Amino acid sequence: MSKPLNIGMIGYGFMGRAHSNAYAKVSHFFDLKYHPVLKAVCARDAEKAKAFAAQWGYESVETDWKNLLKRDDIDAVDICTPNNLHREIAIAAAKAGKMVLCEKPLSMDAKEGEKMVDAVEKAGVPNMVWYNYRRVPAVMFAKNLVAAGKLGRIFHYRAKFLQDWTISADLPQGGQGLWRLDAAAAGSGVTGDLLAHCIDTALWINGSIKDVSAMTETFVKERKHNLTGKMEKVGIDDACAFLARFKNGSLATFESTRYARGHKALYTLEINGEHASIAWDLHDLHRLQWFDHRDEGPLRGWRSIHVTDGDHPYMGHWWVPGLAIGYEHSFVHQVADFLEGLAKKKPAGPTFRDALETQYVCDAVLKSAKTGKWTAVGK
Ligand SMILES: NC(=O)c1ccc[n+]([C@@H]2O[C@H](COP(=O)([O-])OP(=O)(O)OC[C@H]3O[C@@H](n4cnc5c(N)ncnc54)[C@H](O)[C@@H]3O)[C@@H](O)[C@H]2O)c1
Repeated sequence: MSKPLNIGMIGYGFMGRAHSNAYAKVSHFFDLKYHPVLKAVCARDAEKAKAFAAQWGYESVETDWKNLLKRDDIDAVDICTPNNLHREIAIAAAKAGKMVLCEKPLSMDAKEGEKMVDAVEKAGVPNMVWYNYRRVPAVMFAKNLVAAGKLGRIFHYRAKFLQDWTISADLPQGGQGLWRLDAAAAGSGVTGDLLAHCIDTALWINGSIKDVSAMTETFVKERKHNLTGKMEKVGIDDACAFLARFKNGSLATFESTRYARGHKALYTLEINGEHASIAWDLHDLHRLQWFDHRDEGPLRGWRSIHVTDGDHPYMGHWWVPGLAIGYEHSFVHQVADFLEGLAKKKPAGPTFRDALETQYVCDAVLKSAKTGKWTAVGK
C-alpha cells in the first residue's frame, strides 16, 4: 500500500502547471511507496487560485504562503514562484519541518543559497531543486554513457540555450509573466534562468568547474517597469557567453541569449571524448546523437539513437518501444525519483546542496563578466 504525501504548491504559473501534471500522473506510471496528494495550492488571488484548484484537482487553496506552512496536513512544500521568493519560503518551510521542493535557480545568488542549504540540512528535511532536464531520458542516457567510460577521457563540453522572445524594446519588465526581465525578481538574466540549466547538467555529467571567463550584454538598456509604470534601467544580462575549465581537465563553452532570432528554447549540448562524442538538442529531445571512433572504418558516422526503447532510462514505464514522450515527462520522472529517494532514504538529486554548486558557477560567471578576468568558482 503506498502512503500519501500531501503537497502544498506555491505559485500556479508555468511551473505550477508542469508540477501539478507530474504529481497527477506519476502514480499511474510508477509503482512507488508514496503517492502525491494535491492538498493545497497557494496564490495571492483567491478567485484565480480556486479556478486553478478546480481545474487541476487541488483539495484546497491558500492566499498566503505563511498559512500554508502552518498546516499540519501539508508534508511537502513546492516553490513555483519567481526567484526572489525562493529563499524566504524555503527557509520558513524547512523550519516548519516540511520537505521542500524548489524551482531553479535555487536562489538569487550563492550567499542566499548557502542559507537555504543550511536551513534544510539543519531541519533534516528532504529537499530537491527542479533541474528537470536531467530527467529527459536521452540526457540521463548521455550521463550514463559518460559515467560508464564509453567516451573515454573527456576533452570538450559545449552547451547553448538560445531564445528570441525579448528582442522588442517595447516589451516591459517586471510583474506577472515578465518578472524574468526584472533583476529584483530574477536575480540575473539568462545566466540564472537558462545557463543555470546547462551548468547543472554539465556539473552532473562532467564534474566540477574550476574557473570561468565570461562576457554578458544587456542589449536593451531601459524598459518600462510594469509595477511602477516608469522607464527603468534593465539590470539583467540579455546574453552571456563563457569559457570554463573543468577540474577533470576538459574545456567548455557555454552560451545563452534571448536575442537569437529563430530559436525558441534551443538547449543543446555536445561532449567530445577520446573515443566518442554525444550531442543532444531539446527541440528533438528523444534523440541522442552518438559518434564512435571505434566503429569499423567505412561504417563510422553519427548515429541518431531514438531513446524510446524499454532499456533506455525511464522508458520502460511508458508506452511501447518507438513511441516518444515529451517535455512534461521530465517532471514526472523527477517526482518519481524524489518519491523513490524518500522510500529508500537516499535523496534524489539535485538536492539544495547540489544546486548550490550551480549558484557558485553563476556567481563566478557574473563576476568575471564584470571584471573581465578569469574567475575561480567559489567555495
Ligand atoms: N525547471 C524549469 O525548466 C523551469 C521553467 C520555467 C520556470 N522555472 C522556474 O520556476 C519558477 C516560476 O517560474 P514560472 O515560469 O512558473 O513563472 P510564472 O510567472 O509563470 O509563475 C509564477 C507564479 O508565482 C506566483 N507568485 C508570485 N508571487 C507570489 C506570492 N507572494 N505568493 C504566492 N504566489 C506568488 C504568481 O502568481 C505565479 O502564479 C522560477 O523560479 C523559474 O526560474 C523553471
